[in-house]
Amino acid sequence: MSSTSERLAVCPGSFDPVTLGHLDIMTRASELFDRVIVLVSANYDKKPSFSAEERMDLIREVTKNIPNIEVDTHDGLLADYVRDCGACAIVKGLRAMTDFEYEFQMALINKKLYPDAETVFLVTKSENMYLSSSVVKQIASFGGDISGFVPPEIADRITERLLRR
Ligand code: PNS
Repeated sequence: MSSTSERLAVCPGSFDPVTLGHLDIMTRASELFDRVIVLVSANYDKKPSFSAEERMDLIREVTKNIPNIEVDTHDGLLADYVRDCGACAIVKGLRAMTDFEYEFQMALINKKLYPDAETVFLVTKSENMYLSSSVVKQIASFGGDISGFVPPEIADRITERLLRR
């Protein structure tokens, strides 16, 4: 736990790229905690399309008006990062039962590795249930309109980057 009484949470993910679903979870976490670090982390099951720097830039752009959100990246164990920064919670979004088994396992592993932090699950808004970064990438790569799936200010940047030419 942090040495001050500040409640710090880490909101980890691949964010490849950040979607409206992620932004909703980050925003709600920022209302529950004093400070939130959105952490671009390595998921060894996925090969990212965007570099960690690009993903951080996109998140910074869409969270720039939320003063208690910071963005960082870490290529290691989440539990180590959480311990080192003194966070009391890991915040993750849950879309459906399909997310649950994996997230449940991660929460148990992180608790075992660092018992002082709790994993807090925020249930997605129903309109974001179907949304995922991979769906966004597929639509963008075929030139489809992703402005309803990602924050509008980054839609063109994502399409520009992924469009098959
Ligand atoms: O957005 P994602 O891909 O569901 O996020 C998963 C992520 C990146 C949070 C998870 O893979 C993770 O915590 N990676 C860091 C390495 C780690 O601590 N893994 C858990 C122990 S196996």
